[in-house]
Amino acid sequence: MAIAIMTSGGDCAGMNPAIKQFVDYCYTNEVQPYLIYDGLEGLIDGAIKAATYEDVAGIMHEGGTKIRSSRSKRFFEYEYRKQAFENLQKHGIDKIVILGGDGSFRALNQFHKDFGVNFVGIPATIDNDIYGTEYCLGVDTALNIIRQATDAVRDTSASFRRACVIETMGRDCGYLALVSAITCGAEICIIPELEYDLDSIGKRLKGELANGRKYIVCLVAEGCNKDKCISTPNLVRWLEEDIGIETRATILGHVQRGGNPTVFDRLMASEFVSYSIDKLLSDHKEGSVIVYKKSEFEFVSIEHVNSQKYKIREDLLELAKRLVN
Ligand code: F6P
Repeated sequence: MAIAIMTSGGDCAGMNPAIKQFVDYCYTNEVQPYLIYDGLEGLIDGAIKAATYEDVAGIMHEGGTKIRSSRSKRFFEYEYRKQAFENLQKHGIDKIVILGGDGSFRALNQFHKDFGVNFVGIPATIDNDIYGTEYCLGVDTALNIIRQATDAVRDTSASFRRACVIETMGRDCGYLALVSAITCGAEICIIPELEYDLDSIGKRLKGELANGRKYIVCLVAEGCNKDKCISTPNLVRWLEEDIGIETRATILGHVQRGGNPTVFDRLMASEFVSYSIDKLLSDHKEGSVIVYKKSEFEFVSIEHVNSQKYKIREDLLELAKRLVN
């Protein structure tokens, strides 16, 4: 029996521990593990290799993905999916573990419909925006990187009596900015999921500044630059012109996607992968996604994951309400 692993879409910390656990756990279960390099693009091009212990030695603590990733347009076309299937056949692979987001799961679901290849999708994206799971691999590491950066920026802001605007990633989802605002003691949190009132924030901040506040920390989600809420440059302008405080912006960018995986992400990687392999070795005949809910792992259909847009927990949003007024 042969199972392959691949990573697809935006990389995140935790992918390497997952790849290592995959190889170790397959060998323990007397299954031949394969590595598919370069995501769906590599699947099309036949970048597939039987894994050895050497391939995964010493990667547990490294960020990114040793087998690399891609965002593939070609995989939307049947002829390339057929080529990908023929590549798998050459190695006798009929099961895949894929780490990625819902777009990658949808692509493999189509592949399953075309050729019957079984797969389990492991939610892996710093955005934490996949419906049906409370946790996606990589989020804890990203949050810790944002925490470290925010703590550092706060130090220099306090030294200069400045405000700082820190923009996080997350695509359209404000989860990273929200949790960071709560855990880093921010004064403002701007995310697409929460309505805010600049007038009332302004009154609160002016009062606090008059009362001895020396600096202001604002967390903003990158999704704000696209839709309804105030963008980072506009927030900087507002702080300088309306609140009267010198302000600097820090756009954290891709630094949030790298870095050594935290203990939590290493543990989650191990659990996500072992349960996924167990599932594939059982009588599993379709495409599923492993999700983490209320401290337990379970398997759901791709249709379930795609049925709704991810929503941030109400109780978390509640905690940040005082930062939007
Ligand atoms: O989905 C992960 C993510 O890092 C998003 O937060 C961000 O919007 C996007 O990917 C960036 O993509 P790229 O690496 O292609 O610039």
